[in-house]
Amino acid sequence: MTETFALKGNICYSESKTRIKTVHGYAVCSGGISRGVYESLPEEFSAVPVYDFGDSLIIPAMVDLHIHAPQYAFRGTGMDYELMQWLCNAAFPEEERYADEEYARRAYSVFAGGLRRGATGRACIFATVHRRATEILMEEMEKSGVVSRVGKVNMDRGAPQGILESAQESADETVHWLEDVKGRFSRTAPILTPRFLPGCTDELMHRLGTIREKYDLPVQSHLSENPEEIELVGKLFPQADFYGDGYDMYGMFGDRETHGGSVRTIMAHCVWSDEREVKRLYENGVFVAHCPGSNLNLSSGIAPVRKYLDAGIRVGLGTDVAAGHSDSLFRTMTDAIQVSKMYWRYVDKGAAPLRFEEAFWMATRGGGEFFGRVGGFDTGYAFDALVIDDTSLRSPRELPVPERLERAVYLSLDITGGIKAKFVAGSRLF
Ligand code: GUN
Ligand code: FE
Repeated sequence: MTETFALKGNICYSESKTRIKTVHGYAVCSGGISRGVYESLPEEFSAVPVYDFGDSLIIPAMVDLHIHAPQYAFRGTGMDYELMQWLCNAAFPEEERYADEEYARRAYSVFAGGLRRGATGRACIFATVHRRATEILMEEMEKSGVVSRVGKVNMDRGAPQGILESAQESADETVHWLEDVKGRFSRTAPILTPRFLPGCTDELMHRLGTIREKYDLPVQSHLSENPEEIELVGKLFPQADFYGDGYDMYGMFGDRETHGGSVRTIMAHCVWSDEREVKRLYENGVFVAHCPGSNLNLSSGIAPVRKYLDAGIRVGLGTDVAAGHSDSLFRTMTDAIQVSKMYWRYVDKGAAPLRFEEAFWMATRGGGEFFGRVGGFDTGYAFDALVIDDTSLRSPRELPVPERLERAVYLSLDITGGIKAKFVAGSRLF
């Protein structure tokens, strides 16, 4: 991809966690990479094609650090449970269906189509335990234009037979899958996905740790989401000092420095992480996927995100569909701000509520860092962009750009037809 072009409009992106830069001007892309933002086009770009989006807002496409593709089919239902009951009554029965490849193709094409239309430019996705269905999901994601990491789920206990494998089978199928997908995709890559510790025996964790080392894979899983879950982990992994230590024991909790790069770890939720776990999250450079919509629906609690941001822990946002009922990252930003206010009011007066700028940073740069230089328009960043037409939000007076952006997010323009164009790594999706 060598095409050079510029987008013209109101360009907005995070300069830091607390500042959003806005420029009425041009964002230049060359070969899929940002070449900077300018009020007027510099001489060297004077001949490039310009897509003029007038008064529209142009922001980085967003990053969903945590979403379950097979659960997309039942989102918006089954909201009367806590985590463990919800898994048994809502998630597991649906996930059993993905043994059927035809169903998987149908469901995953709906899922990928949904992500393509929305604000998500990049995503880290759970599939199910089924190897073939996971490959189908990767094919559908590749077609969507959204860049993703997709994981075949590993689970060898605590679920119906239809979605359980033995530790040996689970490891063998994972290797089979990794070999199958090698070199097949340009936007889609695998990620190791032990479901959560209650679903994985020591033997499976040990085997997955070995696979991670051999294939240099990033890891995604769940951590300290629900009190009952944490108590169960204490019983099942008495050798671990705390929940996160159980992953760390098997080399699946943090960056694994490799030749010339590093492969990363995402842990969803971290609602109930204790001091030792928080310290380890920081030391190991683990990404926390904050999923406020999910935490509300499953009554999981409120993650202390202010504390994580202040401690320098890497934090991005996750929709966690279908525990989160919406795949809208605008909605997730709004949820993050709102629950932080309840945390401040009810839990800790020292934890200042999140500001809009911080939620925007988490949805773009915070999660983007998982994928490298992603989430901004600074020179050298991947060129991921959304063009937002907010004219449907009528106003009796002219609003400044920062207020227009805040309104576009709070009023969920990403799922109400506000996204007029979308670019990922310089490719235009629509
Ligand atoms: N923990 C283990 N599996 C899941 C899941 O599918 N969703 C959520 N929210 N938590 C989990
Ligand atoms: Fe999840």
